[in-house]
Amino acid sequence: MKKITIAIDGYSSCGKSTMAKDMAREIGYTYIDSGAMYRAVTLYALKNGLFRDGKIDVPELESRMDDVRIAFKTDPATGRPDTWLNGQNVERDIRTMEVSGHVSHIAALPFVREAMVRQQQAMGREKGIVMDGRDIGTTVFPDAELKVFVTASPEIRAQRRYDELKAKGEQVDYADILCNVEQRDYIDRNREVSPLRKAADAIELDNSHMTIAQQKEWLMEQYHKACAE
Ligand code: CDP
Repeated sequence: MKKITIAIDGYSSCGKSTMAKDMAREIGYTYIDSGAMYRAVTLYALKNGLFRDGKIDVPELESRMDDVRIAFKTDPATGRPDTWLNGQNVERDIRTMEVSGHVSHIAALPFVREAMVRQQQAMGREKGIVMDGRDIGTTVFPDAELKVFVTASPEIRAQRRYDELKAKGEQVDYADILCNVEQRDYIDRNREVSPLRKAADAIELDNSHMTIAQQKEWLMEQYHKACAE
């Protein structure tokens, strides 16, 4: 079967990563979580004291972008790709509420986006890739053969993220998570460079009332249709 490019975009915590990851494994494609890359840059900025009084030292971060080396390596135990930053596995550290609280500001910086988009396009050069994010169908792979735009209500998304963090043993508050989800949606939709929006040729999926199995089945159907075209 011919190899295609699959772009999955949508709002925060809507289950994009779960569906993209599962599908990539099933069809033998590479899976890239583009949000993890923005989270890794954010972790770098936090660890290196580049946030002062909540504000990013933009010139300093820009001058250090070559020092931010992000890679994905498959964990042999889970079979899933983990995010590495400068030689360290940061998969867990990039998912904290602290990183979630800062990431959309970092992701709005044009030089950060430029650097990430360049790497993402290089990763997709050979096709056979599923990438999820906010601007994959609009900016990173505008020619992707299959584009999906996922939505769900903010309350449902916050509940999913709450359950996910609780399962990892983290102390979290539902109201804080809902507030973070809504704030990130706002920043992601309103930034100047590559704002979050549905590509004209993307298929929309509201998965508010779908199970993981149902959305997986739906996505596989779209994949087979896209390959047949
Ligand atoms: O896990 P969740 O869906 O909440 O977010 P994520 O995919 O890990 O992305 C974290 C943040 O990175 C988003 O809120 C966006 O601000 C930013 N992002 C982006 O700007 N462009 C992308 N392609 C992916 C993520």
